[in-house]
Amino acid sequence: MRRILILAAIFVATAFKSTAEEGMLIPSLIKAFENDMQAMGMKLSAQDIYDVNNSSLKDAIIHFGGGCTAELVSNQGLLLTNHHCGYSQIQSHSSLENDYLKYGFWAKNKSEELPNPGLTATRIVRIQDVTAAILFGTEGLSEKDKAAKMEANYGQLIQDAMANNHYTADIKPFNYGNEFYMIVKETFNDVRLVGTPPNSIGKFGGDTDNWVWPRHTGDFSVFRIYSDVNNMPNDYDESNVPYTPLHFLPVSMKHRVPGEFTMVYGFPGTTEQHLTSGHLKYIMDLERPARIKMRDKSIGVIDASMRSSDLLRIKYASKQARIANGWKKWIGQIGGLKTVDAIQIKLDREKKYNDMAASNQEWKKKYGSVIQEMNALVEQYHMADFGYSMFIEYSYVGPELFGRARDINKFLSNYEKLSSNNEWDKEVQAQLEAAKGFFKNYDEETDKQIFLLLTEEYVKQLGKENVPALLKSKSAEELADIIYSKSILTNQARFEKFMSKANGKSLAKLLKKDLGMMLWKETEEHFVANTLPGVRIFKSEMDALLKTYVAGKMEMFPEDQHWPDANSTLRITYGKLEGSAPHDGMTYTEHTTLDGIITKNNSGNPDYELLPRMHELAAAKEYGDYAQDGELWVCFTGSNHTTGGNSGSPVIDAEGNLMGLNFDRTWESTMSDYMFDASRCRNITVDMRYVLWVIDVYAGAKHLVDEMKVVRD
Ligand code: ARG
Ligand code: GLU
Repeated sequence: MRRILILAAIFVATAFKSTAEEGMLIPSLIKAFENDMQAMGMKLSAQDIYDVNNSSLKDAIIHFGGGCTAELVSNQGLLLTNHHCGYSQIQSHSSLENDYLKYGFWAKNKSEELPNPGLTATRIVRIQDVTAAILFGTEGLSEKDKAAKMEANYGQLIQDAMANNHYTADIKPFNYGNEFYMIVKETFNDVRLVGTPPNSIGKFGGDTDNWVWPRHTGDFSVFRIYSDVNNMPNDYDESNVPYTPLHFLPVSMKHRVPGEFTMVYGFPGTTEQHLTSGHLKYIMDLERPARIKMRDKSIGVIDASMRSSDLLRIKYASKQARIANGWKKWIGQIGGLKTVDAIQIKLDREKKYNDMAASNQEWKKKYGSVIQEMNALVEQYHMADFGYSMFIEYSYVGPELFGRARDINKFLSNYEKLSSNNEWDKEVQAQLEAAKGFFKNYDEETDKQIFLLLTEEYVKQLGKENVPALLKSKSAEELADIIYSKSILTNQARFEKFMSKANGKSLAKLLKKDLGMMLWKETEEHFVANTLPGVRIFKSEMDALLKTYVAGKMEMFPEDQHWPDANSTLRITYGKLEGSAPHDGMTYTEHTTLDGIITKNNSGNPDYELLPRMHELAAAKEYGDYAQDGELWVCFTGSNHTTGGNSGSPVIDAEGNLMGLNFDRTWESTMSDYMFDASRCRNITVDMRYVLWVIDVYAGAKHLVDEMKVVRD
């Protein structure tokens, strides 16, 4: 009898090992995983996590600014997210006089909290499988009629969902159109900055440590959602009051135990688990290396500028972080994928898929050639895709004159409409204001250097025969010299002078005379004429093939766990608090401590700079009551499958309390966007006990801790 029990225990242990960890699950379907999650230690029910009729954990999870995740932690709308998620807001409130980047900022009371125009906080009201409703009445229709009918169904569903309420609704394809879900949301527009630690905490380790374990970043910032007096969303208004949420997360000060259950609830952006071997190979060998190279160049220029003066450091802080972040992730991804030999793994899986398809006539017909077709499509269109990526790197991530050109073109194209409505003068003022904001974070010489290097690299990557005429007839130097001494795109005074006389003829004149504007237009048109058509075919045909491919996986391998790729909708992933051993002869323990911050600081690397207060508190071991066994934990890792967009996501314990804020993955695990490997993929979390220590002991903002509900052992 005992033996059987032991065997059963082993069986359960291995059974949940195989289902946990990989996958980003849809909250409304979480019931299917309840047993598995409880077997791993979770004390909650599926209904505690997601419920439409009662408040549940879901109501504390916020989509922050559309790109990150945040969570409510008090009954007064107090919101936590990552420092890097609030970075552009923090930066925009910073100046040489009020250098919040360098010294941090803490509102002493609610009246000091800082508004952030344009920043939104969105709660998910419900998630609903509408596959049948979207496909209703489409059977037997031609492709064209089917699309029209689906479009009509879509419109009706949205309209119904939004009738008589202040919600918005959205329907998204999951599994490449094998399923559709409707997401109903409530969006708040008055979100104020409450506090932020200095960069030396919130961005501690900078780019040296970004995507890297061991990690010591206090990557958090504090915001607050405001509503009108009836708790309804409202634009910024002085009469607004702190929002009362349906649920907020209690904060856990409990001892952490390696192996304990963890769950991440948030908005993962994109994963691409179904790429074929050929597709992945193209990305690893050609597309990513070229993008990395483009960014090598711009980062080199920006880093040098930022080191040269405090003013430039502040101007470029946010841009630099954005460009370097993707750059370093890609390097890690390629490394990880090569290490595990991802291409071979893909080939093996593809063989298994094809063998299974060949075992049955019907499957053979439906699925027998889909992988081959996907690989052939990559073969045929990858240069279009490559052109697209290079265009993005050059025109959207590269020198900023292109962004200016887009804005100005859009504005001037509206001359007729604006002047017939008597809105022209007002709009000119608005443009001047916007330009002021833009030029605040811009440096002509820096941008010129970026332009020079990226223009050369763009031509080199695509080949002279594949670039617009101006890039053939003039060298990068010639273009740079003229554009950066004459164009209205690259200089504030020239722009203002131009605006003082702008009228209905200005756009045509610019496009004839301003070399920056001309280059933008040519680059754009060349892209639209030569690259975009191929990209469109590639993406739409690939999506159609992916739909079939994924349907085949689900039909032919029903016993495998299937999960839909991330698509910026609310998901749950769960795992354990645990370290990893991604390299032979080396293990990563699961947590880091304040001592490690001081050790890193001693190395002299400027990314590890601290303010004196940190030294004082660390030397005195002033840990408040936030330590565990005499150590102040800073960060910890877990085997939760996360991706970009999960930044700021709550890492939740077995009882539904907040353990920390997810903010990164280890470098070895960034490959999980393409392939999850349970033995190496780890998410990185800043421990809430460190967050509270910084707020309370370091910054003296204890009133914020008092606002939260803190639970102890
Ligand atoms: N790697 C994290 C993420 O993808 C953090 C990025 C911010 N930090 C930085 N040094 N750029 O967003
Ligand atoms: N830092 C990422 C973000 O901004 C999360 C890290 C990841 O990609 O896992 O969402």
